[in-house]
Amino acid sequence: MKKILITGGAGFIGSHVVRQFIKNYADYQIINLDKLTYAGNLLNLTDLEDAPNYRFIKGDITDAAFISELFQTEKPDAVIHLAAESHVDRSISNPMEFVMTNVIGTVNLLNAAKESWKGDYANHRFYHVSTDEVYGSLGETGMFTETTAYDPHSPYSASKASSDHFVRAYHDTYGLDVVISNCSNNYGSHHFPEKLIPLAINNIKNNKAVPVYGKGENIRDWLWVEDHASAIDRIFHQAKAGDTYNIGGHNEWKNIDLIQLLCRIMDEKLGRESGTSAALITYVTDRAGHDLRYAIDSGKLQKELNWTPSLQFEEGLAKTVDWYLENDEWLENVTSGNYQDYYKQQYEYNEQ
Ligand code: NAD
Ligand code: DAU
Repeated sequence: MKKILITGGAGFIGSHVVRQFIKNYADYQIINLDKLTYAGNLLNLTDLEDAPNYRFIKGDITDAAFISELFQTEKPDAVIHLAAESHVDRSISNPMEFVMTNVIGTVNLLNAAKESWKGDYANHRFYHVSTDEVYGSLGETGMFTETTAYDPHSPYSASKASSDHFVRAYHDTYGLDVVISNCSNNYGSHHFPEKLIPLAINNIKNNKAVPVYGKGENIRDWLWVEDHASAIDRIFHQAKAGDTYNIGGHNEWKNIDLIQLLCRIMDEKLGRESGTSAALITYVTDRAGHDLRYAIDSGKLQKELNWTPSLQFEEGLAKTVDWYLENDEWLENVTSGNYQDYYKQQYEYNEQ
């Protein structure tokens, strides 16, 4: 039986990866290691609690001694590493947290894997989940490929770029079997409402201002989170050691166009008069160092591993809105307490 340690499995993408692996591979043991920061939530996994091939362990990847002991006792065959601080705005106000978790935490895992798998690297795999933000910002044309030079601009993307470099260095220096994927913006259920789409859904639902940074002209390439999880599954099982794949949906949207579409969907779902939600759009001070455009060329993944996204954006966005409207309790749970303080600090003194 294969034992896979998934880090960050209580977060947005991690919970979808854990779910797909548990369902697709009944003969694997899945261990979910998560610190349960503000972004980690066991409510994301309630449907899996009783699965016989699933276990949750609470722990911090920045604690080297704990991680080393975990590898000695659990002896995982592979790691799929998603645990991270993931929000660009938080990285601007608290960069050191991102260095600790994203860089030091990743190196702790690499060290533990290197020691524990010594002499048998060929039968073990370290899969590092990364982001397209490491490539920096595009102008009006072009796309990121796997060979685009790294050019991170935010403390978040700099920390992810650094962790990618460490992962590749452990392959080149020690021969560890590593794989990296760099994905574009995800959307879907269980997305923490500090990120654009769930934040806007929550605010529209509550008739609150929908903050759009700058002029709303920045462009992101959106992918349904379950398609990201299916790409990870395919890459984990089929990629060559040391390889890298870009993952994306060929689905670029200007922020303001996306928000307008979301407003139309919300008006319809909430039975509001057309234009009601759009009236909540409020332009606020731009994000510092705001990357203009991301666009992923996922041709390598499509050609070599025959992966394609399953869902059109309009359909996926409508499904996402349905999930948030049907899961009031989840939203209330994550937006109580500290979220209110974060929101005040980030937005309430920020309107132009
Ligand atoms: P998230 O913030 O929703 O979840 C992160 C998870 O990591 C949480 O459950 C949190 O509790 C856990 N965690 C944080 N610090 C930890 C620590 N020190 N020890 C153990 N666990 C810790 O993030 P997400 O959006 O699901 O992103 C997951 C991964 O995918 C990240 O590595 C991110 O860089 C990458 N990624 C995200 C996107 C996106 O659009 N969200 C796109 C591409 C890549
Ligand atoms: O590209 C992949 C990345 O996508 C991941 O690596 C990150 O973990 C993930 O958070 C995401 O980063 P972004 O910064 O692109 O996502 P965010 O949802 O924060 O912002 C999307 C766009 O919307 C961006 O141009 C900033 C803008 N924005 C965001 C917020 C939160 C607003 O206009 N208003 C907002 O309130």
